Amino acid sequence: MIRALSRRTITAYPGEVRDLLDAWLRMDVQPREAIQRFKTEFAGLLGVKYAIPTPNGRSALHAIVNSLGLEPGSEVIIPAYEDKSVPDTVIAAGFRPVFADIDPETQNIDPKEVKRLINRHTSAVIIAHIFGNPAPVQEIRAILEPRGIKMIEDCAHAVGTSIQGRPAGSMGDAAFFSFHLTKPFMTFGGGMAVVRDADIASSVEQMVSHGKPDTWGLARRMASAGLLKAVTSKAVFPFVGYPLALIQEHLGQGLTRAYDNTLRPFTRTGGGPFNAIQAVIGLGMLQYLPRMLEQRRRLAALLDKLLAPGVPRLQHREGSSIYFYLVFARETAKIRRYLLRRGLDTGIHVMRNLPLMFNDPSPAPNTAWAWEHTIQVPLHEYLDEGDIRWMAGLLNAAAVRFKY
Ligand SMILES: Cc1ncc(COP(=O)(O)O)c(C=O)c1O
Repeated sequence: MIRALSRRTITAYPGEVRDLLDAWLRMDVQPREAIQRFKTEFAGLLGVKYAIPTPNGRSALHAIVNSLGLEPGSEVIIPAYEDKSVPDTVIAAGFRPVFADIDPETQNIDPKEVKRLINRHTSAVIIAHIFGNPAPVQEIRAILEPRGIKMIEDCAHAVGTSIQGRPAGSMGDAAFFSFHLTKPFMTFGGGMAVVRDADIASSVEQMVSHGKPDTWGLARRMASAGLLKAVTSKAVFPFVGYPLALIQEHLGQGLTRAYDNTLRPFTRTGGGPFNAIQAVIGLGMLQYLPRMLEQRRRLAALLDKLLAPGVPRLQHREGSSIYFYLVFARETAKIRRYLLRRGLDTGIHVMRNLPLMFNDPSPAPNTAWAWEHTIQVPLHEYLDEGDIRWMAGLLNAAAVRFKY
């Protein structure tokens, strides 16, 4: 049997197609009820009062920063290693992003950096639980609380992440989630804003409920998800995606660029208000979540055990939801080529080096290093122990040949 694994997959819970067809057929029957139930159950998962579904993660962030009463034009500190939509949104909302470097071990924002960057213009700090790995919430809150600075949790990677037993998204002044196609908890686009206060909740609700329904956009994302799921599946990837990746590698094109450019039009983030069909899928996802987390954590623990000490990797803190599994390497290109030729597709540049993108002169050496030297290997609920053993064998063999 030919074995090749795609770096990513699309998550679907068992019975999702049936739920989808059913939801389309009943589309205009009691839509509010499904949305209301999803809000209540999601808020229940987090143990919070107000959870408001949104068109995507960035619109949730936009509504949050505009509702928290932050001083217009003030500074918002964000991790330097983040998704570009975060500073874009902060700027669009009328604030100034300031980039804080990360802790190289966990790739999360470094509390020492936050402390260093705070000044009288700082109104909020966004912390991201990057790759599902819990951010140092307590340390950062201890810095912010006495100064009256707001803390916003970016939980785009972190449905199911917990910090000392408390769910990510329940500890800041506000939090936002993304249910984009490529996220493990996905509703074909969409997001969630979580806030503590009734007035802020109604302000966020008002801001995100405008806009025309994006039914065709949703249908397009569903079709793309089905296609991507098939192409990246273990059965099909060896015969379609993998040969393409090999050809591109042989032709010398940037693998990541080619792969991302292929995916981008298919996976564009959602637009219209979160609708009842998405809520139905969200409810199914909530039921599936414990199994998905259990499988991801089990496989990640196995890979941790099987990888040789010479393969440095991201230290997952307890409570991580394991969105991605990452190893660090000095000779990234050589190692990725070696792995690809043996069937293992990997990702690079998984988050952005924001100071570089925004021409920001302040130093963020850990971010620069992470951006260049982090390799994302496949780890998701559709893999089994055999896949993990095979992958560990390849990664360990690469460690003998190249510099990690
Ligand atoms: C860390 C992080 N924050 C925010 C976002 C924005 O979410 P959305 O694409 O749903 O707007 C993403 C999306 O990929 C992300 O990865």
